[in-house]
Formats: sequence, structure tokens, C-alpha cells
Amino acid sequence: MRVHVADHPLITHKLTVLRDKNTAAPTFRALTEELVTLLAYEATRSVRVEAVDIETPVTKTTGVAISSPKPLVVPILRAGLGMLEGMVKLVPTAEVGFLGMVRNEETLQPDTYAERLPDDLSNRQCFVLDPMLATGGSLIAAIQYLLDRGATDVTAVCILGAPEGLAAVEKAMEGRDVTIVLGALDERLNEHGYIVPGLGDAGDRLYGLV
Ligand code: PRP
Ligand code: URA
Repeated sequence: MRVHVADHPLITHKLTVLRDKNTAAPTFRALTEELVTLLAYEATRSVRVEAVDIETPVTKTTGVAISSPKPLVVPILRAGLGMLEGMVKLVPTAEVGFLGMVRNEETLQPDTYAERLPDDLSNRQCFVLDPMLATGGSLIAAIQYLLDRGATDVTAVCILGAPEGLAAVEKAMEGRDVTIVLGALDERLNEHGYIVPGLGDAGDRLYGLV
């Protein structure tokens, strides 16, 4: 498994505004989208391409195009939905599947309540979107879901991660072709399983309390 933690002042600047508890939902949503587009640039570094012949106004040449089967983007509902537009802006030909997961806030175990994915993911490159990697339970379950359907190559894009959760994902995905791209690796988890300093509950900050 590979891990990439962003190191760019624009990302840190946007993260600082995102973390601020006084940042209201419309700004939070816009910043989430912008951050994902920046992280997607790194996350798609190994996207599969194939040679294509084209003609410029000057001459014939060979370029590259994203190859088939198209990459599959999988936002984890609900908070991951806030990352979808930022990702497909960069990879508009990607297809999109959905996984709905909610963490039981007492046991911290993930529960899968919705799934809309192709049955066969053999040979598909998959990009999982979830803003928060806290205990890692939700991300491990999501990646395992995709691997069980045949995916061999999974990249997860997360805005914030906790060291405890990242270690759990690394242990569960040892030896697998899995990459985690993080906007920042924070200090720790608190006693409620929240990332510190973090940004609070990402789903609530995007969409309000339910
Ligand atoms: C949040 C977040 C992750 C999960 C992370 O979702 O978006 O999916 O918690 O926690 P973990 O690493 O400990 O599993 P939540 O369960 O709050 O659902 P929501 O997106 O509907 O708000
Ligand atoms: N889920 C969130 O939305 N935030 C956290 O800090 C942890 C889990």
C-alpha cells in the first residue's frame, strides 16, 4: 500500500478555512470541491492511458487518452458525495458507483446501507472518495467491497486522516495495490473517534444535522 500526504501551501490554506468552525456550509462545500480537484491531480497520477492517433492543424501525431474500461469513482455516502463534483471535473469520462455507509457512533463500526456498483470490477481502476479517515473502519470496508468484486487497483482520496486509522488501513491492505491520498495527516483520534484537530463531522458540515 502507498500513502501520499499533500504538501502544498494552497491545500493547507484551504484546509485551514475548512477546519474553522465558523465556516458556513456553502463555503465548506465549495472548498471541499476545490480541495478534491487538487488532490485528484495526485490521485490520478497512475490513471491508465492508451496511445491515440490525432491530427493537429500542423501534422499527424500520437497522444494519449484515458483507456477503457473507464475509471470508476465511488463516493461513500453521505459525506463523500461532497467530493464527487471535484473529482469528475478532472476526470469527466469516469463512471460513478455509490456506497452508502454510516459509522455507529457508539461502537465506531461501519454499517453499509446502500450499494450501487457494477457486479464485475475486474481490471477496473477505482477511486474511493471519503473526506474523513478516522478509525479507518469505513474505508477498509469500502476498499474490501471493491476488491471482493475483482478490483485490483484502488486509490482512496481523503481530506483528513488520523494516524491510527491510516495504520489500520495499512495493516488491512498490506500487499494490495491500494493508494491513499490525504490532504493532511492530523495528530490523533479523540475518545469519541473524532479526528483532532480535524474539522468536526464532515457530513453535518456539508449537509446539516440529520
Ligand atoms: C464519516 C466519514 C467516514 C467515516 C469515518 O461518515 O465520512 O465515512 O465517518 O470514520 P471511520 O474512519 O472511523 O470509519 P459518517 O459515518 O459520519 O456518515 P455520513 O457521511 O453520512 O455523515
Ligand atoms: N467522521 C467525521 O465526519 N469526522 C471525524 O472526525 C471522524 C469521523
